[in-house]
Amino acid sequence: MSRVIAIDGPSASGKSTVARRVAAELGRLYVDSGALYRAVTWRAMEHGVEEGDIEGVIKSLHEMEVLFRVDAGAVCFTVDGRDPGLALRTETLNRRVSEVAATPAVRDQVVAWLRDMLPFGGLVMEGRDIGSVVFPDAEKKIFLDADPEERARRRHAEYEGRDEASTIGNVQSSLTLRDLKDTQRKMAPLVVAEGAEILDTTSRGIDAVVEAILASVRG
Ligand code: CDP
Repeated sequence: MSRVIAIDGPSASGKSTVARRVAAELGRLYVDSGALYRAVTWRAMEHGVEEGDIEGVIKSLHEMEVLFRVDAGAVCFTVDGRDPGLALRTETLNRRVSEVAATPAVRDQVVAWLRDMLPFGGLVMEGRDIGSVVFPDAEKKIFLDADPEERARRRHAEYEGRDEASTIGNVQSSLTLRDLKDTQRKMAPLVVAEGAEILDTTSRGIDAVVEAILASVRG
């Protein structure tokens, strides 16, 4: 059994906030697997790879240097010596990441990076396929979900204060499209992993969700 708590679910279901809190409570390291798919996408975009150019994405993937380190309770990384930070969260990147994440060569590399993190210590890892593919032997598997309207409202609130123009309506259509692509792709689609506990966060606050997970982990 791997020392991993897997927290999977669709976009803006509360995974990041919940996973960070659970990791802090348990003294474990938080891992955002989606950030790696975003980093592969960002690196390709930085090198002028156009949408739909899968060969270009794979070439960029082979050239990129990713270094991992532990910082502030999380496993963090640099790409070619740079910390991409908020550049991973733009709407342009949101539109392109699902295509990149559906590419088998990209998935193989990201899964290898994620599995190589085990020696860092006990992990709380969030994503789409952590309990189903990356660590099917995880000690605990959680699937977080929430109504699409509520997820759009949360993501829109995150964008406020940044200079990107967004409305709840266009955030919801962008999330819906990405969920559709993530659910329908051939390799490692978003599914509820065998043995996962499903938690609906639509009307439950973060504290309640964190408490429910901690109670389940502590048994
Ligand atoms: O934060 P949000 O839930 O919007 O997305 P994310 O977790 O940063 O993931 C971005 C994208 O990466 C997703 O839409 C998926 O296409 C992909 N992804 C994946 O395929 N498998 C994972 N384990 C994590 C993310």
